[in-house]
Amino acid sequence: MSERFKVLVMAAGRGTRMRSSLPKVLHPICGKPMLQWVIDAARAAGAEEVVSVTRPGDGVAESLPEDVSVAAQHEGEGTGAAALAAREAVGGSGTVVVLSGDHPLISAELIAALITTHAAERSAATILTTAELDPTGYGRIVRAPGGSVEAIVETKSTEGVSAAELAIREINLGTYAFEAAELWTALDEVGVQRGERYLTGVFPVLRERGAVVATHSTRDVSSALGVNDRVALMEADHVAQRGLLERHARAGVSFLAPESIRIEADVTIGEDTTVWPGVTLRGSTRIGAGCAIGPNTTIADSALGDRVTALHSFLLQASVADEVSLGPFAYLRPGAQIGAGAKIGTFVEVKNSDIGAGAKVPHLSYLGDADVGEGANVAAGNITANYDGFAKHRTAIGRDAKTGVNSSYIAPVSVGEGAYIAAGSVITEDVPPGALGISRPDQKNVEGYAERVERERG
Ligand code: UD1
Ligand code: MG
Repeated sequence: MSERFKVLVMAAGRGTRMRSSLPKVLHPICGKPMLQWVIDAARAAGAEEVVSVTRPGDGVAESLPEDVSVAAQHEGEGTGAAALAAREAVGGSGTVVVLSGDHPLISAELIAALITTHAAERSAATILTTAELDPTGYGRIVRAPGGSVEAIVETKSTEGVSAAELAIREINLGTYAFEAAELWTALDEVGVQRGERYLTGVFPVLRERGAVVATHSTRDVSSALGVNDRVALMEADHVAQRGLLERHARAGVSFLAPESIRIEADVTIGEDTTVWPGVTLRGSTRIGAGCAIGPNTTIADSALGDRVTALHSFLLQASVADEVSLGPFAYLRPGAQIGAGAKIGTFVEVKNSDIGAGAKVPHLSYLGDADVGEGANVAAGNITANYDGFAKHRTAIGRDAKTGVNSSYIAPVSVGEGAYIAAGSVITEDVPPGALGISRPDQKNVEGYAERVERERG
């Protein structure tokens, strides 16, 4: 796109209808704050610079990426006061696109189309409008008989709004392109009503001056969605979720029962991966190609290689190499690193541990702060006692070692390469490579016991 423009994102509203201690624009849509969706769209549309108006002390400024300039709205209420706060940061010339932090799904294409209309109409201001949404609560576009924009009438409160105005379906989406010089001088003339300075007050001023006020109307309902309460937040999240699933599907991912699947905005998934019902993929999760994820699996901030299977499992900050088999019912906690081809099976919990390539931990075990060598076989019910009540200690189980069922390791302790551990052992001393570690009472058989007991009981 050839037009040069800056973007001003308004994000200092009180958002009281969210009934939340979190500022409205930080509420997440598919795991990403609303405001960040808007900034990403502005960048994708080619904005030269992005300025965000924020309220000092509410934490929004701190959440912004470094390449976004911050303008603080110290005084005044309303969208007009917000725009004025950014006057210096935006500067007095060129085109500025104003976006609202509470229209999270605005697309880069729509911003570009608005700019194109603005340039073609040579207008002082171009308003993005739609007639495709329920207009309740939005500002209505009031047009003169000739069709030009006369004013925008707010309908959050319908008191004093005429029936004719309430019948208007065309609404203001709070997204505009302005010639900066015209915007600032017009805003100077906008007064305060109901305690707020309305940005929309500039349109009658511009009209009076004989400046051109154009509109760009869109049918793209998802781009248009505004969020003022949590009902709208749910709706926006639903629309965004569907969009993300479709993007992944086009890139080669299969989803079974997509309505039951939740994928956050920054997740990546490789080709030919199948996602089964009831799966949640969160945060910075990266999934490779050819994987089978789910059913009923949650993965957060984890990295999985190719051809991994994860059934009924829960992973948090874990790293899993190619061809690993997880679950059903595996629990990988922060710092679990699972080597290629390894198996972490049923009711197995792994934390802060390195599990070597090809190692198997098939059933009912807890490995915390452990290093398991390549090809080792950890039998059912093995537990690392990693905590002595004061500090955590490591357990090493050497390469190709084979442990017996129901064994525990009192860390710090190590089992050498290729060593065996007898079933039911409590390992408190290091086991040398190739040795058998056994620590359990010898078995004793009491001959004729059953007969004796039955006789004694009469
Ligand atoms: C605004 C428009 C309305 C339009 C609607 C679209 C005005 C007067 N009304 O109404 O015509 O239909 O958006 O969604 O502009 N903000 C600040 N500082 C403030 C107040 C708001 O930065 O003091 C920001 C908010 O964070 C938000 C945006 O401006 O991102 C819009 O504010 P909001 O209060 O939601 O305006 P609406 O009542 O929705
Ligand atoms: Mg709003």
